[in-house]
Amino acid sequence: MEIKGSVAVITGGGNGIGEAVAKYFTRNGAKVVIVDMVQANIDRVVKDIKDMGGEVIGVQANVSSEADTAKFIKAAVDAFGQINIAVACAGIIRDGTMLTLDKETGKVSKKMGLDKWQPVIDVNLTGTFLTLRDSAEAMVNGGWPGLLVTISSINKEGQVGQLNYSSTKVADALLPKIMVGEFLLRGIRNIRCVGIAPGYTGTPLLLGMNQEALKSLLNDVHLGRLIEPEEIASLIGHCVANEAINATTLEITGGLCYSKGIAK
Ligand SMILES: NC(=O)c1ccc[n+]([C@@H]2O[C@H](COP(=O)([O-])OP(=O)(O)OC[C@H]3O[C@@H](n4cnc5c(N)ncnc54)[C@H](O)[C@@H]3O)[C@@H](O)[C@H]2O)c1
Repeated sequence: MEIKGSVAVITGGGNGIGEAVAKYFTRNGAKVVIVDMVQANIDRVVKDIKDMGGEVIGVQANVSSEADTAKFIKAAVDAFGQINIAVACAGIIRDGTMLTLDKETGKVSKKMGLDKWQPVIDVNLTGTFLTLRDSAEAMVNGGWPGLLVTISSINKEGQVGQLNYSSTKVADALLPKIMVGEFLLRGIRNIRCVGIAPGYTGTPLLLGMNQEALKSLLNDVHLGRLIEPEEIASLIGHCVANEAINATTLEITGGLCYSKGIAK
């Protein structure tokens, strides 16, 4: 499979990793569909890609909605005739511990509400499921070869303060194995699925966090800096070209080692 001549749908394409993936695919000759909630971001990325000489459309959609998903899949096929690559990049965080205690009484003063739990599940897990399910449906019915990509995270290992986020990211890491197993079961041989699990990546999502905390996180990264979104994009590009990569989730962390706990 080649990027050149392919049609790629990228959710969360209006920012961060999704934007970098869209631009990487454009530079390598794909037609791209930018799906995002934020119209201003879609407009900016679509303009950038047109300025690069790329073929692109933008669709405002909420990935957790079945109707919106059907809308952007149809828009992609109407505009470019097929879908070959779907990258489910849309993701959010709503951090907090499950329980908070009152310092004086030691009793629970607050618990993580569904207002923090449900949106993360809806976007990161249900949204990824819907994007990949409907992309796969279009690929099978159209007879087009394809690659489905989930975006997990290094926090799939279980990050304190991210019960909601980590739960979705461990699931996003598992989807490729199950989906490809089901493709095998159903005799679908020309659609692959891979997951990408990035470490700390320099996007607005991460650059918005406490900079002291960020600096201390980087103490455990062998590379000594944040990963660039373009480095994630180039790994996804490699996955497109190399059909032996399938039914698995690849980590790209810059060498995250958690070594500080034992450092003298
Ligand atoms: N930045 C990191 O360090 C890092 C590390 C590991 C994994 N990730 C994952 O990579 C993915 C992209 O993260 P990022 O850092 O580029 O974030 P980002 O905030 O820069 O971009 C995410 C994009 O998704 C869009 N989005 C959010 N909810 C949406 C919805 N319901 N429907 C459609 N679009 C929606 C946002 O508008 C935004 O443009 C996420 O799944 C994130 O969990 C990021």
